[in-house]
Amino acid sequence: MRKKVTVVGAGNVGATCAQEIARRDYADVVLVDIVPDFPQGKALDLNQAGAVLGYEPRITGTNGYDETADSDVVVITAGRPRAPGMSRDDLVATNEAIVTAVTKDVKRHSPKAVLVVVSNPLDAMCHVAKAVSRFPKSRVVGMAGILDTARFAAFISHELDVSVRDVTAMVLGGHGDQMVPVVSATTVGGIPLSELLPKSTIRKLVDRTRFGGGELVGLLGTSAWYAPGAAAAQMVDAICLDQKRVLPCTAYLDGEYMIRGMYMGVPTKLGAGGVEEIVRLKLTADEKKMLRASASAVREVVGILKRK
Ligand code: NAI
Ligand code: 2OP
Repeated sequence: MRKKVTVVGAGNVGATCAQEIARRDYADVVLVDIVPDFPQGKALDLNQAGAVLGYEPRITGTNGYDETADSDVVVITAGRPRAPGMSRDDLVATNEAIVTAVTKDVKRHSPKAVLVVVSNPLDAMCHVAKAVSRFPKSRVVGMAGILDTARFAAFISHELDVSVRDVTAMVLGGHGDQMVPVVSATTVGGIPLSELLPKSTIRKLVDRTRFGGGELVGLLGTSAWYAPGAAAAQMVDAICLDQKRVLPCTAYLDGEYMIRGMYMGVPTKLGAGGVEEIVRLKLTADEKKMLRASASAVREVVGILKRK
C-alpha cells in the first residue's frame, strides 16, 4: 500500500510539492485549501499530468480534512507569501492564525503524522505547530535549510562553473536574513571552498544566499516555489522512506548548539520518526557568533506570537 501525504495549501509551493511527491510513486497525495474548487482543480490537473509523465499515485483535492485521515506526513504550506517590500516577519499575525487552525484539523485527523512546516515566518510557525499539536518535538519539523543550502550551492556552482552535484554546503540558523551559510563545512569535490575562492567572493555569495528569498520576491512579485516545493518533497522522501538523511532542517533545540527551547535550522537526521537526531557540526567562533545572532532574531519573532 502507498503512503499517504497531505499538503495543506494548494498554492504555488503546495502544488509544486504535491507534484514532486506524486512523481516519486510511493505516496498518494491529498491537497487541501480553503478556496472552493481550487484544490480540486489543481488535483485534476496534476492527475492528468501523471498520464503524460507516468506517475501513478492518486492526487485528491479537497476543502476539508476527512480525505486526509491517517496521513503519514502533512506538509503545511497554508498562509500568505511575501509581497515585495514585505519581510517574512510581517506575515506573523496572519499566518499564525492560519497555521493554528490548520494544525488543529491536522491533529484531529492524523494524530500520528509527522508535520513538515513551510509557512513563514518559518521558525515561528514551527513553534506554533508544535504548541498547537502538542506532538513530540521529533514530529514537527520545518523546511528552510534545504532551500537556503540549495541557493548557496547553486551560487557556488555558477561562480566556479562546476556541477552543483559536486558542491557540499550547509546553511544553518533561522530562515531570515541572519541565516548562517557555514563556509567551514562547504566543499567542492572535497576541496574546501576557502581554497577555491577569495574571501571577498565568498562573502558576496554568502550575502546573496542570505537575501536569496528577497531577491526572488523582487523578481517574481511573490515568493519562490520550485525550489521550496522540491525541498519540502525531499524531506517527505526522507521521512516516508525512512532514509535517515542528514539534512539541514528547522528542529526544536533543547540545548544543542547552546540554544534551548526554540526552533532553528541545524543538521538533522531525518527518518520515519521525523527528526531522529540533531547532528553536531563543528563551527568556527565566527559561525557560532552568527548562529547566536540568528537565534536572537528568531526569538524576537517568536516573542510577538500570540501563542508563546
Ligand atoms: P500561495 O498564496 O501560492 O499559496 C498559499 C495557499 O494557502 C493559498 O492557496 C491559500 O488559499 C491557502 N490557505 C490560506 N489559508 C488556508 C487555510 N486556513 N487552510 C488551507 N489553505 C489555506 O503561497 P505560496 O507561495 O505557496 O507560499 C505558501 C507559504 O510558504 C507562505 O507563507 C510562504 O511565505 C511560505 N514559503 C516558505 C518557504 C520556506 O523556505 N520555508 C519558501 C517559500 C514559501
Ligand atoms: C523564500 O526564502 C520567502 O521564505 C521564502 O523564498
